[in-house]
Amino acid sequence: MKQTVFFIFLLFLTCILSVHCKKDSVEKSNQNNTNSCDTTNVTYARIFSILSNNSCTGCHGAASSVPLNNYENVKAAALSGRLVGAVEHLSGFTPMPNSNQKIPECDRKAIKAWINQGTKN
Ligand code: HEC
Repeated sequence: MKQTVFFIFLLFLTCILSVHCKKDSVEKSNQNNTNSCDTTNVTYARIFSILSNNSCTGCHGAASSVPLNNYENVKAAALSGRLVGAVEHLSGFTPMPNSNQKIPECDRKAIKAWINQGTKN
């Protein structure tokens, strides 16, 4: 009898946990929803956080082959087309961060908007 009660309790717990996780992932995907992606007036501050949050800056320091450590360097990579080429995995560029995973769509939109708006500091 005790075992049955414990088993039911476990089942109950599993249900609660799975519902909770499902809710989390739905909320996450809503955040990435294109409707909530604001790309008005993008400045370097936003690009800087995108590059830090996606671990780009860890590899792309001042001494790297494509430094993304400050405004001037990120601007140069952006204007040469390499930044968009890399994050959009366009042919002819080394895909970043790797070949099968792109950074969030809103981040990529913001990078393109930043370039179109004149790579503001
Ligand atoms: C694990 C280290 C590492 C991480 C993390 C990384 N990169 Fe790179 N990246 C490299 C290396 C190494 C190269 C040079 C590859 C080559 O010689 O083609 C490179 C190349 C590039 C290039 C030049 C691509 C080209 O074909 O001209 C750009 C732009 C770039 N990375 C941007 C980024 C961005 C943006 C991120 C974050 C989303 C990122 N990288 C994350 C190591 C990294």
